[in-house]
Amino acid sequence: MSSSNDNSYTPPAAMPDHLIRYSTFRQFQVFEAIYRLGSFTRAAEELFLTQPTVSMQIKKLSEAIGLPLFEHVGRSIEPTEAGKELYTACRNMFETLSNLEMKISDMKGLKRGRLRMGVVTTATYLAPELLGEFSKIYPGIDLSLKVTNRESIIRRIRANEDDLYIMGQAPEGEFEVESFTFALNPLVVMAPRNHPLVGKKNISLAEIAKEPLIVREPGSGIRVAMFKAFEKVGVQPTIRMELGNNEAIKHAIAGGLGLSVLSLHTLSLEGTEGPVAILDVEGFPILRNWYVVHPKGKELSLVAQTFLDFVISSEMKIRKRMQKMWPKLESILQENQESAKKKKVVKK
Ligand code: PGA
Repeated sequence: MSSSNDNSYTPPAAMPDHLIRYSTFRQFQVFEAIYRLGSFTRAAEELFLTQPTVSMQIKKLSEAIGLPLFEHVGRSIEPTEAGKELYTACRNMFETLSNLEMKISDMKGLKRGRLRMGVVTTATYLAPELLGEFSKIYPGIDLSLKVTNRESIIRRIRANEDDLYIMGQAPEGEFEVESFTFALNPLVVMAPRNHPLVGKKNISLAEIAKEPLIVREPGSGIRVAMFKAFEKVGVQPTIRMELGNNEAIKHAIAGGLGLSVLSLHTLSLEGTEGPVAILDVEGFPILRNWYVVHPKGKELSLVAQTFLDFVISSEMKIRKRMQKMWPKLESILQENQESAKKKKVVKK
């Protein structure tokens, strides 16, 4: 190896100086996705990017290469000769890098290990996907996932039964924890698609209180948040039924048994245009967050620490997924930010 003090050192002739300077791994990743999926739109979806970003990345990459990478044939796109060559190079490059990633995780001791997670019921719509993505990077790690309601999760934290927990609100008062927020958890009022309130603007909670409601079981964090919202405006909800399971509640809503307050995440598979609709109710969505939690002072295993970092770094990805599911969310967040700013100014 040449020493960095050796002034006579010159880079080997094979060093792709031009590409190193003018292209990025992200551009190669975007290119690879378009090539594989045959579409700019689908690549943008897969990578959680906007279409203009994808087009811009490809434009920059083809400028760096000096040749077009795709051509339009009718309504579809085809790779050019240069595109085909680049694709082969990308595959080799990514394979080399993922081998490197595996070797590094072996060196860090992440080849084998165990991660025990405890998550609140509603995090079922989030945690398995995160674990799935994590285990693609660290396939040798055994995973266990305990799903139960908030009260039982708090008991498990106290008894130190798992490595990490995912909750809608960190425990307060009883004992000290470290908590890290990583995603939004908006609570919304849901109704069957054919309900007369669907499409109505700014419905009052008093009006919702007259409708039969389906609520989660005692011990559920969502149940507590829902009752607090009614209490805040001084109205008493009409409870028709109690159910300990989010999926069962959605079916009960669709079956016309009543309305309910659930996390937006519960619609992650069917989306917001399915049999269950979101109502526009004053004070909603309640903007809660998701937290990864562990008891204060607990020494995390290497696996747990790596998963914690991974979850925190997934924030943007989860937010984009939610925006896609419910495009209105972004404008709600903006309005909220603006009114929070105004409140600050008034206080001054
Ligand atoms: P739960 O908790 O599933 O127990 O209702 C979710 C939350 O606290 O947001």
